[in-house]
This record gives sequence, C-alpha cells and structure tokens, in this order.
Amino acid sequence: MGHRGDNANSLYRSNSFSSLGPGRSQLQSFRSVHFNAQQRRFDLLCRTCQYSFRVDEHGWLEHLYWGVRLQPDDDLDFLRHTNISLPFDPIPEKAETFKPHIFVVSDILKRQSRDSNRNTWKAATMMQRHHYNEEASRLENACWRLLAMKQRRLLREREMAEGEGPQMNTTAFIPMTEDERALLFEEAVAKLMNDIADTRLKAASAKKDAWEVREPGAVKQQGEEQTSMSRIPPGLERVGRNTKLLEFSDYGTGDYRIPSFRVMYADGSHISPMLYKTHRVMLGVVPMGCGMPIVGDEFSVQTDAATLIVTLADPFTDLEVDLHYTVYEDFDIIVRRTVIRNKAPRGAGGVTVLKLASATVDFESDAYHFLHLPGEWAAERQVTVQPIVEGYRGVDSRRGTSSHQHNPFAVIARGDTPPEEDRGEVYGFALMYSGNHRIEVEKTETGRVRLNIGINPDHFSWSLASGGSLESPECIMAYSSDGLTYMSQQLHKLIRTHVIPQEFRGNWVCPILLNTWEAFYFQQTHDNIMQIAKEAKEIGVELLVVDDGWFGRRDDEYTSLGDWDVDFRKLPKGLKALVDEVNGLGLKFGIWVEPEMISVQSKLYEAKPEWALGQAGKSRSEGRNQLVLDFTRKDVRDYIYRKLEAILMSANIEYVKWDCNRHLTEVYSRQLSPAKQGEVFHRYVLGVYEVFRMLRARFPHVIIENCAGGGGRFDVAMLKYSPQIWCSDNTDALSRIRIQYGTSLAYPISAIGSHVSTVPNHQTFRHTPLKTRFVVALCGTFGYELDLTKEISAVEKEQLKAMNRLRTRLAPIIFQGDFYRLWNPFDSSSSVAAWMFVTPDRLKALVFAFISFKKSPGRYLPRLRLRGLDPDEKYTVSELVPTTIRRITSVQFAEDPHRPVYQFGKPTIEISGKALLNCGLPIKLEFDGDSCLFEITAHTHIASTQVVLPPGGASSPVLNKRKSRDGPGTTLLALLEEQEIPRSVSSRAVV
Ligand code: GLA
Repeated sequence: MGHRGDNANSLYRSNSFSSLGPGRSQLQSFRSVHFNAQQRRFDLLCRTCQYSFRVDEHGWLEHLYWGVRLQPDDDLDFLRHTNISLPFDPIPEKAETFKPHIFVVSDILKRQSRDSNRNTWKAATMMQRHHYNEEASRLENACWRLLAMKQRRLLREREMAEGEGPQMNTTAFIPMTEDERALLFEEAVAKLMNDIADTRLKAASAKKDAWEVREPGAVKQQGEEQTSMSRIPPGLERVGRNTKLLEFSDYGTGDYRIPSFRVMYADGSHISPMLYKTHRVMLGVVPMGCGMPIVGDEFSVQTDAATLIVTLADPFTDLEVDLHYTVYEDFDIIVRRTVIRNKAPRGAGGVTVLKLASATVDFESDAYHFLHLPGEWAAERQVTVQPIVEGYRGVDSRRGTSSHQHNPFAVIARGDTPPEEDRGEVYGFALMYSGNHRIEVEKTETGRVRLNIGINPDHFSWSLASGGSLESPECIMAYSSDGLTYMSQQLHKLIRTHVIPQEFRGNWVCPILLNTWEAFYFQQTHDNIMQIAKEAKEIGVELLVVDDGWFGRRDDEYTSLGDWDVDFRKLPKGLKALVDEVNGLGLKFGIWVEPEMISVQSKLYEAKPEWALGQAGKSRSEGRNQLVLDFTRKDVRDYIYRKLEAILMSANIEYVKWDCNRHLTEVYSRQLSPAKQGEVFHRYVLGVYEVFRMLRARFPHVIIENCAGGGGRFDVAMLKYSPQIWCSDNTDALSRIRIQYGTSLAYPISAIGSHVSTVPNHQTFRHTPLKTRFVVALCGTFGYELDLTKEISAVEKEQLKAMNRLRTRLAPIIFQGDFYRLWNPFDSSSSVAAWMFVTPDRLKALVFAFISFKKSPGRYLPRLRLRGLDPDEKYTVSELVPTTIRRITSVQFAEDPHRPVYQFGKPTIEISGKALLNCGLPIKLEFDGDSCLFEITAHTHIASTQVVLPPGGASSPVLNKRKSRDGPGTTLLALLEEQEIPRSVSSRAVV
C-alpha cells in the first residue's frame, strides 16, 4: 500500500476535491458531494434528489433546497432573495469573526483532526474487540507495528545522537510519556488510514464517475481566488438567523426557533454562535467512536456512499460541531449526524451539552402535513396525520426505550391535504436510536417550518471535559417526489441492504417459527415442549422457540429475571438435552431472554441490589413487577453478557428473542457522579448496544428477534442487531392489519414479526377466520403462537401444512419485493386495507386485501387498482386462498366448505398490466374479518418457468374430510396445494 509524499499526513485521501476540468475550476466534486466554491454551496446528489446549502456571508450554513435534482449548472444564488428583513429579526453587529479560509483547498487537504484520529482509533479498537472484523483487526495490528517501528527509529536516532551507534537490540523501546505515545499512535493511525484511503480510492476509481486527485498546490491556487466573502452582496437584505433557513441552529444568537443544540459553559453562559470552519469529504461511512449503530458497514470499503463533514466552530470558545452528511448515490437518502467537541485545553473548564439534534431541517414557507406513528401497548404505530399549524409540536419518548407510544419516525409532506401514496413531496425521518428521542416541529410567523430530530433533551445533560466529544445518533432522511410509497421503499431497501446484519441480507428468509408463549405461558416443560415440537415439525415449522419461563423459578411475572440458569424442575434433562432432542426432530431451537431486567425475587437481586437503577433509600416503581438493571455499569453488562454467552454456548441455539418488558423510572445510577446523572438514559442505551454488539460478534449466525412488550422498541438501531422485531403483543389479525400497515411506513416487511395465533384471540377475544390469520401473518416474518397439541383439528393441521408450503414459496416475494400500500385502514371512511408486493423485475406480485368491519352490507368497495406492474405485460391473476362463504339469497349467507368461492368465479383470470393498473380488481369482502390473496404472474415469467399441472382439480380428499372449526369464513385452505402452480400455465395462448 503506497501513499503520496506530501500527503502522507492526510487522513483520508478523499478529502481532496477534484476540479471538474478547465473553465469550471469553481466546482469541486467527490462522487455525490459537490462544492461550488464561488457560491460556497454544497450540493448533495442522491439518485433523483438534491440537497443544497451554502455558507452565507456570516459563516452560517444556510439551507437552500431539498427536492428533485436540478440542472447541474443551475445557479441557486437567487434563492437567497427569499429572505426578508423583519423589524424583530436580530442581526449580529458584524460578521467579523468569520474567517473565510475555506477556499484554500489545501487547508482541506491538510486538515488533520486529532479528534478524528482518536475517534477512528477508538472505534477501530472497539470493533476489533467486540466485532470480529478483519479490516479492523488488521488496522489495529498495523498501528501497533507502526508505533513499534517508530519507537525503534526514535531510539536509534537518539543512540546515534548520543554517539553510541545503533544497538543490536531492536526490540527495545524508549520510555515515553503518555502524551508522546498518544502522539505517535495518532501518527500511526493517520498513516494507516491514508493507506486505507488509497485502497478505497482504487475501489472507487474502478467504478464509474471516479474522482481524480489533484496536486494540492494546483488546487490551492484555484482555491485562493475565492476568499472575499464577509461582504453582503449588493441588492441583498441583511437578515438575521431567525428568518433564515438554516442547517444547524445555535442558541441565544437571534434564532428564536427551537435550536439544534444547547450547551452551558462553566461561566453559566449558553450562548454559542456556530460558524463555518472547514469541511472534508470521505468515501464511505464514518464509524462512531461511542459504538452507536450506524447505517452501513463501518469497516468495509463502501463505495456507494460518500460522507461530507462540515465543521462549525464557536469563534469565542473552543467548541466545535461536525455535521455529517452521508449520501447514498443509489438511494434518495441522506444520513445525518452531529458531533460536538470541546477543544479547550486541559484544565480550561468543561462544557455541558443540554441538547444535540441529529438533524435540523428548515422548510420554506408552504402548507405541510405531519405524519407520525403514535400508539400504545398492543396497538403500536397507528398512522396519524395532521396539518402543521403555527406553533410548536413535539413527539417524543421519555421512557428510556423508543417506546410503543411514539416511534422515532415522522414524515413532513408538502401540501394542504394529507400525504398520498403515489404523488406529492414527502420527507421521511427515521432516527437510528432506541432510547429517549424527540421529533419537534415548529411553524413560525414567516410560514417556514423547522424539524429537529434527535435524543430527547429532557433529563439529558452530558459533560464534555476538554478533549471530550459527544456523538448524536444518526437520522435517515428519505425524500420522495412520488408520495409515501417510494419513501417507504427506499427506507426498506436501505435497511435491508445497509443496516440488518450481513448474515441476513440478500435472499435470506427467516425460518418459520413456533413460539411457545401463547401455548404455555410460564408452564414450559420438557415434555410439553417436545410434544409441541413434534406437531410443529409435522406441519412444516422450522424453528421452535421456547419463550419465558424456562429459567430460575419463573412460574409467574414476579420472579427470577436475572437468574439465567435452567429451571431443572421444568427441564429436568437440562437445556442441551432439550435442544438436542428438538434438533433431532429436524427443528432449529430458539430461546427467550430479558437481559436488561431484574426481579426483586431473584438470586441476582439478593446479591447485587445496587445493580438496579434507582437511588438507595428512595422509593422506586416496578413495571410488570420488575426493576431495570443499570446497563450504564460495565460490571452489569459484563455479567449479563457472560450469562448470555454461556447459554448460547451450552447448546445449539440458533435464535434468541431479546425482550424488554418495562420502561425506565427512577433513572439514577449509583455508580455515576452527581454531575453525570443526566447521562444515565443515554449511557443505558449505549450499554444495551454494547451487549447486542458483543453478542452479534460472538454469534454472528444467531438470529436475534428484538422485542419490548411487543413492538415497544421497533427502531432502525435495533435492526442493526436483529433482522426482525416482534411487532406487537397483539396477535389478533384484525388489529395487526393496522399495526403492520403503520410499521410498513418506515420498516421493511421482512423485519415485522408476525404469527398465526389461536381463536378466540388472547388479547381481543375475537374470532377471525384462519385464512385471514394466515394471510396477515404472511406479511411479515411468519410463524405460529398457539398450542398445536390442543388447539388444532386434524383438518386444520393439513391446512397448516399447506400454508407453510405456500409461505415458503411466497416468502422471497414478500421479503425482497417492493411494497405498495393500496387501501389505508386509517382512512376514517373505511375499514378495509390492501397492499401488494412486486418483484423488482415486475414479473411477480402478491396482492392482499382485508376488511375488519363491514359497515354497510350494500356498499360496494372501489375496484382495487394495483401498482408497480408493467402496463405492457399480460398477467395471470390467481386467487390463492378462496373463501367458502357464499351469498345464497340477497339477505343470507351460508358456508359450504366443499365449494370454494372465488372472487371472479374461477381460480384464475388473465388481464393486462394496463387493466390491472387502471381498472383495478373488483373485490368483494363480505363479512368482518374477510380477506383475499392474489398471486400475479407475468406471462413472460410463466413462459420461462412453464410447468405442467398435475391432473385433478379443486376437489381434494382433505377438503372432503374437513371439519369446520374456525368459525365463519372458513376457507378451503387445502386448496392451497393446487394453487401453488400458476393455473394459467396450460392456457398460455395469450403470451
Ligand atoms: C413480552 C413479549 C411476549 C412474551 C412475554 C414473555 O410480553 O412481548 O411475546 O415473550 O413478554 O414474558
């Protein structure tokens, strides 16, 4: 690995901007980050959208535009003329403190932040320790080697200087102070990063639009032409911060809107103007020093993303802020984060950070709607849309987890009507954080709207000693000019390809599982587990998950959390014997744990009461009769990790359900000083991430399913560790339609934990037809949560077998297809829902429609217009699970389990894509809980996969034996067998 002479110190080769060529020297570009030096403007170019901001005459970052891609030569300077000077708009006396050295590009090249070195190093070593990663461990080794070489060279030089000549003992080291050592170490890191940057450069130039490296001298000359900037150009009004669109709003300097951050200095001052200082660009993503999860793979060469880091500085203090923008060129997504740093010399006094947003986005004056996902236990992520009106609005969590109540996701949609699925500009924000968050929106007198998103500033303070820094979580910002569907599809794809663990990406589909919770609750015994396992195997289940109750003396909710040892009363042969027996049947084995919790009735609490959050001698609250472990403590984390490791090492466990069944109260750590108590909420989350990270690193192939009393911690950060999340404790299919629909706004369907459960449902006591329970669960990870030994008839067992086969066949379309929402169950005028999945090649699709409550018998549903299909294709529409309820007179229904009822009178019809898109499918959903499922296959696809139908038709031996048990709407699930082959194959004349 080579590096270039002068630039040997340069941290990242990619810091340099290349010129776009003669005559356009003002434009510097590095992949998707463009810098127009003359206008001091940054353009971040995504797949179809553009995000632009500039450094204004004061040194503030003025936001200009976020929308569809403009012409490359569009001069956005005119946008500055939108600002109007208002009488009550405070303006700084003068812009004297802003030193416009930004255009001396060599500064950018030379910018060697000690902090970045330190952070990179910290992140590298941390990853190396907790996450096996070849690049990270090579980095560490190489750094040590470089350091050793450097020390030896120094020793030799010293010896030569002292006239002793080189000694033979080349392994000797000279004694060094901590600081000297740190300095050398940083140099070693810098050199190494430079080499890595070289490798990245090579990878980058192998791709189209590779960037060219210019000699610093040449670039410097061009840059030096651009230094006059602290002048307000003629014709422009002087406006203050309060009315400008800003990228990052400081506190106390004239912007009265909700600020992006707030600090308190040792002298009691909160005032901190933040002015542009410098910027740099890197290929790929930048790891977090604190170990928080990020989008992308921290230590791999990721050539589809570039990160712009703009550094702001308070000219009066030593405080700096880095704004990170990672641009994904194949997506309409920018990932933002903020880092705040106290660069004061040692002993100069600390700073307390009271607020730090991950992103601030100011929207120009217009009508907007705000969409967010409030909810509660058993009714998570209920889509709510309101117009944004003057004033302030915040949605947040103060519960220590991202919460059932307010998901860390929101949308701002332009327009005076609610956002639509297929048109209109929408801006989605997903915070990658699992703790207290806040999304705040403010519309001011100018009609402009600000959104801040980040850690909740309530009960938050973070002391930054000199040299210290604090990183915000990342915020994923998605843009769509075509409504909500495209926004969601972008988020789904980004999460599937850049967030969930590598092992579960691509074509991976999770196994069909059976979870024992609703079958046995706390009464899990070796015998009943084995009985259900045998039944599960018979119907085609692939993974058996033993839920709560297998450890300590866990007979109810009052006891044993923390005592992660097998309860031999229930599992007399132990865990390994159970797992082996389950494996022996051909099933994988999974287990439930709740690592963050402690029961007062437990051995752990007896031994370590101080490990629970809370202040000694004061009252504290219990949630689900349990306390929360203080995950800010390393001893607690180490203990819990060792326990989990021991469980996973003790047997062949391939799945873990990590639960968290209460929110935090009395948040106080007995190990932290009084000054650091404001850090407990955030440190808790960092602690949880650490244990997850260690677990992932140690057991990369174990599937972790995250859960928090159902879907109380459904956020992008958790998806970094667990490819799937239990979506809700409510397994009722009709409730699930709304919950899963809301969840789909931000999160991929492949991540939505969904199970078929028994009737009456345990949470709602509702009877829903098995068909509908099946099709709803199909739109997620898919599994079961019922007692197969008692709650299923012989006929139903056959149906479940067919269902599982069907799921296996359809899962790739559900996991990897593009998701389209068609009918909105939150639309107050209806109680129907519909959605569909389309493969990227548009050759296959699945369409689902449901009705939860039939309001009026005579009212027709609209035809279901499909989306995403090729208008020029011919498709076969096959109804996969017909119903058995028919209308026998105009006032009467009857069920005939022997006669399937198809929506179109027959199992398949053939229609053009154009007709499906424009006329739509006529759908009849006749009774509460009715549903239908269509498979749509393009004839091009059929032609390439032609199969011959076996003889036989709709009559099935299973069907004739069928005993109706699952209430009205019982369907001919046995027919699934025949439905698995496209019906139209034998009549393909239409191709
Ligand atoms: C939570 C989960 C359930 C189940 C129980 C066990 O409520 O959401 O699925 O695991 O805990 O106690």
